[in-house]
Amino acid sequence: MDLPSAVTLVEVGPRDGLQNETGYVSANVKIEFINRLSDTGLKVIEATSFVSPKWIPQLADHVEVFSAITKKPNIAYPVLVPNEQGMKNAIDAGADTVCLFTAASETFCKKNINCNIADSIQRFQQVFDLAKQHHIRVRGYISCCLVCPYEGNINPHIVADLALKLYQAGCYEISLGDTIGVGTPGKVQRLLKLVNTKIPKRAIAVHFHDTYGQALANILASLQLGISTIDSSVAGLGGCPYAKGASGNVATEDVLYMLNGLDIETGVNMQKLIEAGKFISEKLDRKPQSKLANIVLDQHK
Ligand code: HMG
Ligand code: MG
Repeated sequence: MDLPSAVTLVEVGPRDGLQNETGYVSANVKIEFINRLSDTGLKVIEATSFVSPKWIPQLADHVEVFSAITKKPNIAYPVLVPNEQGMKNAIDAGADTVCLFTAASETFCKKNINCNIADSIQRFQQVFDLAKQHHIRVRGYISCCLVCPYEGNINPHIVADLALKLYQAGCYEISLGDTIGVGTPGKVQRLLKLVNTKIPKRAIAVHFHDTYGQALANILASLQLGISTIDSSVAGLGGCPYAKGASGNVATEDVLYMLNGLDIETGVNMQKLIEAGKFISEKLDRKPQSKLANIVLDQHK
């Protein structure tokens, strides 16, 4: 297999994870959680979300959390922004990387950010202008790249065209979301090949939820096509509040275990990662989704 020799893991637990946990945790717990993740060797940790607290109350403490975390110089701490207002707040809080998000499904887009896809792209222009002025890097997310919970199968050409638009507008990377976690490896590869006809592989990331247990298979299928940026969430935290039935994101521990087994470099320490996952799981009064959290840690350093 011609696999990448190194992979960047984008840890989305503090944002995608916590936004959809039924349990709330305090800002102090989030801060300690992110600081623990910063000690694991992860290079990208999505810290929070500057969206409306009416829509996502779990992350209403975004300013407090983002300002207080210890930011290590070699780690990026992107934050989600949906519009100009979120971007301005993120800039005031000192963010240097932001993530915009739209969807390949009109219904999902409307439910998630209260506008249609074309309007979302237009709305982003103000964010890109501010990003340029303030030298901020912009990542893009496309939700429902394979299937939408409301519209069913998604035409992959819609995804590829959107990815191109976001790339041309200035996103350094586009994360393709299987938001409800129903994709399978063949469909994933067909999508990735098509998207890669529009944007380079280095600008493609994959973002799998694990509803039907296909996430690791989908990640392997992506690696086989040379994709080397993978979103994941420690302890498998999360889901999506506007995607009925979506389970947690693929657990970072499980992805790391697979990558270690394939001799793919990540720089991430398994034991510290498992400990960070256990820490937040205890605070949420839930079990870590990864089975690795329950076995002897020393075997997996
Ligand atoms: P809206 O209601 O259409 O916005 O929401 P509006 O412009 O009409 O403003 C309404 C109110 O919200 C106003 O306040 C604004 O000031 C305020 P009021 O006058 O009523 O007091 N407002 C804001 N407040 C704080 N921060 C802001 C902001 N913007 C407006 N940025 C909006 C539109 C986009 C704001 C809303 O729909 C929203 O916040 N949506 C966020 C939804 C969300 O976060 N979803 C989850 C993340 S996406 C995801 O998880 C998928 C992903 O993981 C990939 C995958 O798995 O597929 C990325
Ligand atoms: Mg997600």
